[in-house]
Amino acid sequence: MCGIVGYVGRADNGHQHKALDVVLEGLRRLEYRGYDSAGVAVLADGEVFSAKKAGKLSNLLNELEENPLPESLTGIGHTRWATHGGPTDLNAHPHLADGGKLALIHNGIIENFAELKEELLAKGVTFLSETDTEVAAALLADEYQADADLEPKIRLTVAMQRACQRLEGAFTLLAIHADLPGVVVAARRNSPLVVGLGDGENFLGSDVSGFIDYTRRAVELGQDQIVTITPDEVVITDFFGLPATGKEYHVDWDAAAAEKDGYPSFMEKEIHEQPRAIRDTLLGRTDANGALILDELRISESILRSVDKIVVIACGTSAYVGQVAKYAIEHWCRIPTEVELSHEFRYRDPIVNEKTLVVAISQSGETMDTLMAVRHAREQGAKVLAICNTNGSTIPRESDAVLYTHAGPEIAVASTKAFLAQITAAYVLGLYLAQLRGNKFADEIRVILDELSATPAKVQEVLDREQEVKDLAASMKDVESVLFLGRHVGFPVAMEGALKLKELAYIHAEGFAAGELKHGPIALIDEGQPVFVVVPSPRGRDSLHAKVVSNIQEVRARGAKTIVIAEEGDEAVRAYAEHVFYIPQTPTLLAPLLATVPLQIFACALATAKGFDVDQPRNLAKSVTVE
Ligand code: M6R
Repeated sequence: MCGIVGYVGRADNGHQHKALDVVLEGLRRLEYRGYDSAGVAVLADGEVFSAKKAGKLSNLLNELEENPLPESLTGIGHTRWATHGGPTDLNAHPHLADGGKLALIHNGIIENFAELKEELLAKGVTFLSETDTEVAAALLADEYQADADLEPKIRLTVAMQRACQRLEGAFTLLAIHADLPGVVVAARRNSPLVVGLGDGENFLGSDVSGFIDYTRRAVELGQDQIVTITPDEVVITDFFGLPATGKEYHVDWDAAAAEKDGYPSFMEKEIHEQPRAIRDTLLGRTDANGALILDELRISESILRSVDKIVVIACGTSAYVGQVAKYAIEHWCRIPTEVELSHEFRYRDPIVNEKTLVVAISQSGETMDTLMAVRHAREQGAKVLAICNTNGSTIPRESDAVLYTHAGPEIAVASTKAFLAQITAAYVLGLYLAQLRGNKFADEIRVILDELSATPAKVQEVLDREQEVKDLAASMKDVESVLFLGRHVGFPVAMEGALKLKELAYIHAEGFAAGELKHGPIALIDEGQPVFVVVPSPRGRDSLHAKVVSNIQEVRARGAKTIVIAEEGDEAVRAYAEHVFYIPQTPTLLAPLLATVPLQIFACALATAKGFDVDQPRNLAKSVTVE
């Protein structure tokens, strides 16, 4: 939610970077975080110059072409996902205060903005927008004015410290002041911010993609920290002015990884990166004998052996990963595993204790609902293990341990490659626990790992036949509703298929457990209703396959058009399907890695056929950093 960039450079550092170019490039890369409006502010000749426009970044670029801003070496920029106040020019950031000398941008929600606003109104401050951010800007200006005797260099930093002591909620704030060329002051609480270290220049970003074109040296900031950047210095304190430190790390991907690479959209590119995402997530996790090694888990083996319950917390697509994980972990490790949406978990007084392992799954590592659930679980004594794709993000930092997925940056708002990488990591975790707790013999684990290692090539086989799915999507572009059915691990796959379609094509789509059909949802079936059915392997146990084939017949008998995702060689389904898409054979538990892919391609192609922007669907943002 909201992308933030800041830049300061020295004129003689040899780079010849201009603040506006750096900031706009950063906003281009961060636009996936929100696209309700965009704005920039730069310092030049002792003045703040700013421009902001509702809508996508392209609107701001047009505005800047017509009304250019002066050259500068100090600038900030913002791309917004609206919370307080609609997506208008006036509500766009930056917000100005101190007679137009101070510019501020914000990501998050200031919860006590109403009372602060009243206080500032009583002092004669006037407001132009409906935002909580403008209140924060006015408060910062007020604190700045209160300390007129302070040395200019530290005055804005001290004002930021004091303002932050009064603000409640979640916020990343970046400010510049006309008195202070070459200085950007920033603060963070419950909202992301990283520093990029340059040579004679420094950067700030909501995440590293905000400055990846210029440096891969990043500093992770802690909770409740203030950072002041100048071209040659990065000074970190807490909200009370006490010195603090951040953790420096090297970003292991470069700007090219955040480009479309010839694909029409990031989503298509990311769908095609899935074989690599699975492969990289498996890489280096076995020793020479094929045993799993998870050195990065900072939870002791004895604690992991004593775990008597696992609770997976996550939101959206990541929560469907949790459901796949539940089937795998319970089957392999015999540990009771619950899956709960993070926002429900925290508010229902969950029973967790020292023997509970909470697994927090998050692509971004910044989802506020999951972060709050992590904190709650730890307060109850549970150990928290994060499965995360974003190095340096808050959820892994606040967890006891982390298992990183290596999907690379996921830019499209709809998650695809992160989903498969998270499922892979969940399997690795399940097998590791089975190994540690003696639930499975080494040779049994090796067989599953071998199957897992074979999945990237099988995903590639599915991708090689994408045209089949694209043609189907084009032929269905006018459908108004699509249902998805699955059993066992096919159930979360069905829900993921429905979520992708809702997010991208804005049509009614629902995923059901196929067994639930007769308990209500079958009433939805009417003549011509398209129904996708994820069919389990006929080679599997428990007559699961036969049950799903019966479900197909039940919906067909009521007029449904069935599109079946089945395993190669499953001839039994042909008779009951308008269309069959075959996926390579794999054990039932691993099938989500294959069965999801045609559903992703279908949603992407259908939305494209309808003329929608698949990378930036309406009303959404990549990372949900407000509750
Ligand atoms: O970054 P996270 O994995 O914590 O995000 C969770 C959800 O917001 C996310 O999966 C969302 O549902 C995606 N838009 C799905 O495509």
